[in-house]
Amino acid sequence: AELNAASAELLREAAGKHHAGHTSQGLVPTMGGLHAGHAALATAARQANDVVIATIFVNPLQFGDAADLERYPRTLDADLDLLGSCGVDIVFAPAVEEVYPGGEPMVRVASGPLGGKLEGASRPGHFDGALTVVAKLLHYGMPPIPADYRAYFGKKDAQQLALVKRMAADLNFPVEIIGVPIVRDEDGLALSSRNRFLSAEEREAALVLSRSLRYLKEQADRHEPLDIEGALAMVKSARLVELDYLEVVDPVTLEPLAFNCQDTPFTGEALALIAAKVGPVRLIDNVDLG
Ligand code: PAJ
Repeated sequence: AELNAASAELLREAAGKHHAGHTSQGLVPTMGGLHAGHAALATAARQANDVVIATIFVNPLQFGDAADLERYPRTLDADLDLLGSCGVDIVFAPAVEEVYPGGEPMVRVASGPLGGKLEGASRPGHFDGALTVVAKLLHYGMPPIPADYRAYFGKKDAQQLALVKRMAADLNFPVEIIGVPIVRDEDGLALSSRNRFLSAEEREAALVLSRSLRYLKEQADRHEPLDIEGALAMVKSARLVELDYLEVVDPVTLEPLAFNCQDTPFTGEALALIAAKVGPVRLIDNVDLG
């Protein structure tokens, strides 16, 4: 792997070198602090593309809370090792000044109504900041010659994935957006860069997120009415866990679906989304009920 291209110029140079005779390019945007969830994205990209680029950039624009930005894990050496072992060709890990040379950009992507609900309601401006940097990263990662272009995002961040797909469609980005299944620890906890901030006790408590989703998933699989009240009660009664939302939504519009009525058997497409604070850490998870 050409580890590591720290500027757009080096990135272009490396991509050009890699491209002789190649016809496809995959991009894997990350903020570092990498784990097996990110590795799954890199592996999926590796399997489908001639050239694979990963990016590592902790994007200040998408953090509302300065303390959260400050303590975000920065583990570049380990990240480069992991991406290398996944067969990534080039890692683009620019400094903040490279990405935002004039300070904060004046023009940004507006995430619209889809960006204002759920995560967006609790983190104002988060998705405008995330989409703005994703737009930039998709541009940095463009193939230097005409080629198929794919970008990989985790289903762990279901709202982000839905928004990136909308941005690519609404603004004609010449890239195919691919969603990759959630990677979990053996006990069910969805992998996250922020899990490392959980104490042993908090980590144990955090399992109620995936447990409540699994509870709903089992009902959906059996085509039973969804006991959302029961799932809510599970989370609300858990110590150290402060629920933000637990909703069953349409996977594309993220509009809430009304399955709370105990006598409607579940059929069709839906996503159950949860967000909660466990100790100091805000966690999200979701399950596809379709
Ligand atoms: P980050 O949190 O580093 O995540 C990078 C990508 O890895 C995202 O697409 C995320 O959904 C995916 N991912 C994280 N944990 C996962 C898991 N357990 N299973 C599967 N995929 C997982 O998301 C971001 O960074 C940023 O918002 C970014 C898109 C890079 C823009 O700054």
